[in-house]
Amino acid sequence: MCGIMGYIGSGNAVPLILDGLARLEYRGYDSAGIAILQGNEIQVRKKEGRLSGLIEAIGQPPAADLGIGHTRWATHGIPSDRNAHPHQSCDERIALVHNGILENYMALKKELCEEGHRFKSETDTEVIVHLIEKYYQDDLEAAVREALTHMQGSYAIAVISRDEPQKLIAAKKDSPLIIGLGEGENYVASDIPAILHKTDQVYILQDEELAVLTADRVAITDFSSAPVEREIFKVTWDPVSAEKGGYEHFMLKEIHEQPRVLTETLRGMIGEDGSVDMSGSGAEHLLREVKKIYIVACGTAYHAGLIGRYAIEKLARIPVEADIASEFRYRDVLWQPQTLMIVISQSGETADTLAALREAHRHGVPVLAVTNVVGSSVAREADAVIYTHAGPEIAVASTKAYISQILVMYLLALQLARPRPEAGDGIRRLSAELLKLPAQVEAVLKQEAQVKALAQKYQDVQSTFFLGRGLDFAVAMEGALKLKEISYVHAEAYAAGELKHGPLALIDHGVPVLALITQSHLVDKSISNIKEVKARGAVVIAICPGNLAGACAECDEQILLPDIDDFLSPLAAVVPLQLFAYYMAVFRQADVDKPKNLAKSVTVE
Ligand code: G6P
Repeated sequence: MCGIMGYIGSGNAVPLILDGLARLEYRGYDSAGIAILQGNEIQVRKKEGRLSGLIEAIGQPPAADLGIGHTRWATHGIPSDRNAHPHQSCDERIALVHNGILENYMALKKELCEEGHRFKSETDTEVIVHLIEKYYQDDLEAAVREALTHMQGSYAIAVISRDEPQKLIAAKKDSPLIIGLGEGENYVASDIPAILHKTDQVYILQDEELAVLTADRVAITDFSSAPVEREIFKVTWDPVSAEKGGYEHFMLKEIHEQPRVLTETLRGMIGEDGSVDMSGSGAEHLLREVKKIYIVACGTAYHAGLIGRYAIEKLARIPVEADIASEFRYRDVLWQPQTLMIVISQSGETADTLAALREAHRHGVPVLAVTNVVGSSVAREADAVIYTHAGPEIAVASTKAYISQILVMYLLALQLARPRPEAGDGIRRLSAELLKLPAQVEAVLKQEAQVKALAQKYQDVQSTFFLGRGLDFAVAMEGALKLKEISYVHAEAYAAGELKHGPLALIDHGVPVLALITQSHLVDKSISNIKEVKARGAVVIAICPGNLAGACAECDEQILLPDIDDFLSPLAAVVPLQLFAYYMAVFRQADVDKPKNLAKSVTVE
């Protein structure tokens, strides 16, 4: 995720900003840049790659008392010097850094180009600085305010102008921004760790608030200019826990980021008629007249692909095969005309996934990539890309990337179903349901204490089973993977109906069975399977929506989900499984974020 650091005051802005950016490095980034005011000129330096490259390019830091800096995690436009922030107005009078996604940037850019603005980058961010330039009449604050009224999407911005050397302006909506308060100096940053070594006195800006910083003062107002009284937040975290937003591990932080990630991934995907419309994604041309789809991925991304298979076949009635990339690449596939390959990869660098992509290309089959990393190998080589907007995922065990991948699978299924007239009502209804997901996942996160207590109770078990039917089976596979990869407890996922063909022999007294029961039409079948394992002494933990709680009454424990549409239930049902794996690992004193033997990105075969 991008990092913002801005400074105004009597110290030297350059080393302070670079130091703040370095403290945000844990968030992940692909390029960095800085803009400072020197005399009456704004000087900008930007560099693709690590911050050290920028520091080297700057050399001896020049003196400045005002500046803004940025580490970029690409969303629009590849990582490059040109696309790195800060961006400047045509006359180089104004410089700006931005975190977030500007949804209406294409329309705004067209308008601004027609008015004569010249763009230097492919970013959505550059639109904002030109917009401010358009409204600038010797009052930066007024110009920013006017620009904000035209911006749709999520943003945290910091802006300076060479004509107002005593001022730094910050504003935010749906993207975090904080202000650090010093003596004769003030800071703006996207996250507390950037400034914690300098001050523990912080204002946390709320959505639709704008702050004007001078060296001695910070004035916060809302977007309608009404003054805001904000209490100072005194940070008591140490720097290491501050990086994790106060959470003990990155994995827990990332689990809690999921409602926001869903909101980000949904951005711009629902059209004016209220149904899914991916026409702005650049992938639509690949989705027309498709007769066969292969979804290929590894690990957690493969599990997202399994849900994609169910969703696409059900809604779009197109045959889909989901395959593990390391298997797919060596299997003699019967390629047919009008086939599409969808590869899913958080990192966009997984060797087997990349090889499968190339195999499709060798047979003239187009590839759509679903990835989290702009400019990654998979993104570069695919014919079109849909980004998951989960932000950098630091814990090895994937959580927020997975949830955004499955959301994209549903979006694709709904888009592919559009040509079917009979699907119309269903598309509209499910599209509306998608918008409820962030709140529903937020509601599931409220069960954390209960899941933690369950993990505490079962922390010493040797073996666990995860059962489900249909979509629940795909979620069970992900739940089992999470548990084994971070807590090192043996966990096996089984299609509930398949259990009696072998693994039932392993069910013994006290073995926990996590049963996913979210599909109303399969509930009776699932209950029969629960009876089978209970009769052999298993302890059954049901994960079911409130309306099926009665049907699941004979389970030993229940984790209740909000009443979510059956078809979308994986997005909620996976969350307690992530929390269960997390707390099991914590109680067993495992290294949660860096499990033994595993790597975040597997770039070898
Ligand atoms: C590794 C990671 C997993 C990930 C898998 C695929 O095994 O530990 O979390 O699901 O690779 O990675 P990708 O980046 O292609 O999604």
